[in-house]
Amino acid sequence: MEIKGIDTQLLDWSGEALALGLRINDIELTGDLAVLDTKLEGTISELINDFEFEPKPGVTVVTRVGGKAPIRKVILVGLGEEKDLTLDSFRQATASIARVAKQEKIKHLGISLPSQDYSSESVAQVITESLFLTLHLDNRFKSEPQDKGAKLETVELLGLGNQETAISKAEKITSGVILARELVNAPANSVNSLTMAQMAQNLATEYNLSLEILEQEDCEKLGMGAFLGVARASDLPPKFIHLVYKPQGLAKRKLAIIGKGLTFDSGGLNLKVGGGIETMKMDMGGAAATFGAAKAIAQLKPLVEVHFISAVTENMISGDALHPGDILTASNGKTIEVNNTDAEGRLTLADALVYADKLGVDAMVDLATLTGACIVALGDNIAGLWSTDHNLAMELKNAAESAGEKLWEMPLEDKYFEGMKSPIADMKNTGPRAGGSITAALFLKQFVKETPWLHLDIAGPVWSDKPNGVNNEGATGFPVRTLVNWVLNS
Ligand code: BES
Ligand code: MN
Ligand code: ZN
Repeated sequence: MEIKGIDTQLLDWSGEALALGLRINDIELTGDLAVLDTKLEGTISELINDFEFEPKPGVTVVTRVGGKAPIRKVILVGLGEEKDLTLDSFRQATASIARVAKQEKIKHLGISLPSQDYSSESVAQVITESLFLTLHLDNRFKSEPQDKGAKLETVELLGLGNQETAISKAEKITSGVILARELVNAPANSVNSLTMAQMAQNLATEYNLSLEILEQEDCEKLGMGAFLGVARASDLPPKFIHLVYKPQGLAKRKLAIIGKGLTFDSGGLNLKVGGGIETMKMDMGGAAATFGAAKAIAQLKPLVEVHFISAVTENMISGDALHPGDILTASNGKTIEVNNTDAEGRLTLADALVYADKLGVDAMVDLATLTGACIVALGDNIAGLWSTDHNLAMELKNAAESAGEKLWEMPLEDKYFEGMKSPIADMKNTGPRAGGSITAALFLKQFVKETPWLHLDIAGPVWSDKPNGVNNEGATGFPVRTLVNWVLNS
């Protein structure tokens, strides 16, 4: 699919299908819309009347234009009230347009949105991202592709002028989101610690990143008892992956992104019997987004040094599995009584955080499909955010806002750590049911020293059960776009 910004305005464009964004007030069809309607022999007003079309966000209607008109189909998409318009309105509207275009097997599409209040660059970027993400379908495990037939070939963004730079930026970001989606969608018999290490090697080679993979012995030498405790029952070797992007010039800032990398979470001996075990291929969503961000950042080349880290393994059962009650020692010397083997993500992250903290970075962000409790609290569209640093929290919130991804700040309520007290070790790995996503964050905090740190619990938004905005059923690639924005704004 080729996307290009063009100078051509609404009245002069011709082609197969034209998608028009309408605000509530536009329904009166004044100015250019009125002229276009006349030119198309009343097709637009007819479409509005026949379908009782109201331009609410996401609502679309489509029709054929009769005769020998220069445009064969018109798609109307609602944008809601003018005062509520944001860049995200254009993102959502484009997702709706993309779905109609696919349904209608449109090959050549023009898009015209009333975006005067925003820079043409940002509008072109948002539309491009939305088109690629909405139309991405993961066919890899089907014997035959599901989306046979005509596909969108050319999309023209009316009135935006040449937007090559913005469009190419969007394509780079999207390639990272799609990598994350594909890693999460792939089942555990296809993505495991070995293939994750291989994938990191491929990224390093293709984009000139430096890569260090710590093998089991290296992790032993560093005293990563928490990570290795989780990895014990797997038949596959653990891989601690550390990928680095270094800019050509002097780096303005040095950052670390750390992702939970459980390629499968059975729960261990605290086996997941309450349901959901079959979805636990998604438990490497943090690592997937980390490496997706690496792929995008390596192409965008900001003047920022970024470390991408994941302790990759799977949480399995065997004669050698962690026993509930075992005591592990993490690489910072702290001891942990494992009162629940299903709280394994925080154990792997403990050693990854200690490692990242020693790199001397200016800030570190971890992302993890950490708790079901966070889904209970915030639902599946919003990730929880915890941070020891107000500025860092603001940075991530801003980055998420412009990415159209949702984060909500939660409290690091120190008092709740009392629930993690162990009579025999420094702490337990699990507290009471209440406040489960908060105690998980407090547990992670024990493994961070001075570095400003921020934790995202992405258990909800990493996966979508149905098409929603730019997401289809399956992995979403959340929060790659937020991470990329954060690094670019640094
Ligand atoms: N990977 C799960 C969290 C999860 C649940 C992710 C649902 C995505 C969807 C995590 O390892 C886990 O099992 N957490 C436990 C913690 C509990 C034992 C304190 C949970 O949330 O039940
Ligand atoms: Mn678990
Ligand atoms: Zn898990």
